[in-house]
Amino acid sequence: MPIRNGPLSAKRAKPRKPADAAAPSRLVVDFIGGSVGYQFRRGSARNHGLAKAVGLSGKHVPSVIDATAGLGRDAFLLASLGMPVTLIERSREVHDLLAAALAAALAASPALAQVVARMTLLGGDAKELLGGLEADVIVVDPMHPPRRGSALRKQEMRDLRALVGTDPDAFALMQIALQRARRRVVLKWPRYAAPLAGLPEPSHQILGKTVRYDVFMIAADRRS
Ligand SMILES: C[S@@+](CC[C@H](N)C(=O)[O-])C[C@H]1O[C@@H](n2cnc3c(N)ncnc32)[C@H](O)[C@@H]1O
Repeated sequence: MPIRNGPLSAKRAKPRKPADAAAPSRLVVDFIGGSVGYQFRRGSARNHGLAKAVGLSGKHVPSVIDATAGLGRDAFLLASLGMPVTLIERSREVHDLLAAALAAALAASPALAQVVARMTLLGGDAKELLGGLEADVIVVDPMHPPRRGSALRKQEMRDLRALVGTDPDAFALMQIALQRARRRVVLKWPRYAAPLAGLPEPSHQILGKTVRYDVFMIAADRRS
């Protein structure tokens, strides 16, 4: 079973307190139905901006760490394209939703089980865990500043924000990701938002309708 709960149960990884403990838990993580399942059944993930941003090609299937797993959509998309993906989530509530959704998908069908077999879930703060992990690409998708969007997505993100709060340490996480990634770091960020202060210029960007992927290539002489 690829689900590991190690660091969450360890003493050093204290689960984060929910930002709004009174918030009703409407969040759903679902890899079988919904938009994630639909995209999987249609096989349309290959054209997704994130697949381009991580550098997937016919010749190269990168290994990926999703340092901010959240509801697991991005990690599932990448794993469905054949990439081994390590998911890190520091909110115990969100981690547990992810673990349950992965277990459900594992049992749902052989095709889904193949995808889940590429996904390893870790609980804890990526700033601490990245030091002990290796991957070609690290994806960072911190909570975004509020923006206009579809009512559903907005509500979902509002619910997630109510649970996990904002991610004021996103810059620190990016600095560590830039030290640890073998080939590239991908920052998912609102398309029209100013860059995270202090970061270097990205090597290039992949633009989506509402988000952009800032890609930071790692110099060849730093690769192990
Ligand atoms: C915007 S959501 C990510 C959504 C995700 N990309 C998806 O496809 O569903 C951000 C998530 O990252 C988590 N997070 C933020 N900083 C983190 C860190 N340093 N370590 C682990 N998880 C982190 C938050 O708890 C939150 O669940």
